[in-house]
Amino acid sequence: MPTVSIHVVDHPLVAHKLTVLRDARTDTPTFRSLADELVTLLAYEATRNAQVEPTTVRTPVAEAAGVTFSGPRHLVVPVLRAGLGMLDGMVRLLPTAEVGFLGMVRNEDTLQASTYATRLPEHLVGRQCYLLDPMLATGGTLIAAIRLLAERGAASVTAVCLLAAPEGVAAVQKALADLDLPVAIVTAAIDERLNENGYIVPGLGDAGDRLYGTV
Ligand code: URA
Repeated sequence: MPTVSIHVVDHPLVAHKLTVLRDARTDTPTFRSLADELVTLLAYEATRNAQVEPTTVRTPVAEAAGVTFSGPRHLVVPVLRAGLGMLDGMVRLLPTAEVGFLGMVRNEDTLQASTYATRLPEHLVGRQCYLLDPMLATGGTLIAAIRLLAERGAASVTAVCLLAAPEGVAAVQKALADLDLPVAIVTAAIDERLNENGYIVPGLGDAGDRLYGTV
């Protein structure tokens, strides 16, 4: 089994929200709220393998079998800046998760990612981690972020991305083939390609600019 599995969420609600996000006429407030809704739909798929253990509860009528999360608290890590726009949509389904932050920036000339801020628990042993980064373009940011979580002992990493480019998916799969932990990428679509500026085509433009207005 490859270390990195890819899940493209095929659902009419996802496809519709993504279509409106792509539309260049969609204004920032609408973009932000649709991105939030789309992340919640992706989060449903991203948490499909969340570890649970059996438990029982008493209903008003009788005892019922159920499940509860097992293991240490989930860790949700938005990659700043654009990943921040995905945080509320993710923790809506994982309200007990802990939240860490990774500040990463892509050099627009070299397209290389560098880390400028890290706010994470020192040790992540046994933790199921969810990375939030809207655009999987060249893959540089995601590769660096997943390696960092793996080095701290994460048990698994699931990256939630609004969109991915085939080049980025291939780069992540190749770069992380040696990793000894399960990595999954959950996305609404894999687009055609990257352009010469490292933008996803057709994509939706600069996710950070569209979430926050151009700054
Ligand atoms: N980052 C973005 O915001 N958009 C892209 O298309 C690629 C990287």
